[in-house]
Amino acid sequence: MSKGLVLITGGYGRLGRDFARAFREDGWSVLLAGRDRDKLSAAAQETETDYQVLDVTQEEQVLGAKRYVEERYGKLDVLINNAAVMRSEPVETMAPALFLKSITTNLYGTFLCTHHFLPLLKKSEQALVINVASTAAHRADAGSAAYNASKFGLRGFTEALRKELRKTDIRVTSISPSMIRYGEAPAQGKGAGLNGRDVADAALFLANAAGRSLFIDLEMWATNP
Ligand SMILES: NC(=O)c1ccc[n+]([C@@H]2O[C@H](COP(=O)([O-])OP(=O)(O)OC[C@H]3O[C@@H](n4cnc5c(N)ncnc54)[C@H](OP(=O)(O)O)[C@@H]3O)[C@@H](O)[C@H]2O)c1
Repeated sequence: MSKGLVLITGGYGRLGRDFARAFREDGWSVLLAGRDRDKLSAAAQETETDYQVLDVTQEEQVLGAKRYVEERYGKLDVLINNAAVMRSEPVETMAPALFLKSITTNLYGTFLCTHHFLPLLKKSEQALVINVASTAAHRADAGSAAYNASKFGLRGFTEALRKELRKTDIRVTSISPSMIRYGEAPAQGKGAGLNGRDVADAALFLANAAGRSLFIDLEMWATNP
């Protein structure tokens, strides 16, 4: 029997697929959401998950995915707001369209998905929203203004939402990894790096934690850089 339904935005991305594998292996039903149908169906086949086309910036698509979840599953247990644009450039040379795209995807997209899926999260007995932030949500760097602004904003959004929902028992948290490496990785040692699977395991920990416990943010670094 399934532990519940997890929806992952940016689902065919690198971390999205690590989330999907980790949750599937732990007995959850997984719905991968992404904007390119071909990439999405390939990733869903690879990770043995269900899928829905969903561009997080398109309200009609968010509503379409919500209808699908409502009709097929009746509720949503875990929403992982993972989709993001990570490119950035120095402010002086950055195309205004890139700045806007970062804010629209990373911040407005998270708002849209959370806003529309909230009624289905409220039907779960132990709902959880995980916003994938970054160490870039805590510390800014030259050349990273668009990404920093979107992720700092995401941290503020997460905190406000947590306070709004705390009395409902819906947990809202963020994970803030530093640079992630993907694929096979040594267990530890100089330069081993933080792996996508480590971040997915942190999300699993949050999802399996007692419903009475509320984590604020899991900031994750690699040891021994
Ligand atoms: N990689 C790192 O070192 C790192 C470190 C800290 C935090 N993070 C965070 O981890 C999350 C996942 O990143 P990643 O490393 O897996 O990068 P990734 O492989 O580039 O994945 C990002 C995903 O977001 C999707 N996306 C972008 N715009 C979208 C939209 N409008 N609607 C729906 N999906 C959209 C992308 O799809 P397309 O291919 O169609 O654009 C892609 O599948 C992000 O929130 C990122 O900020 C990453």
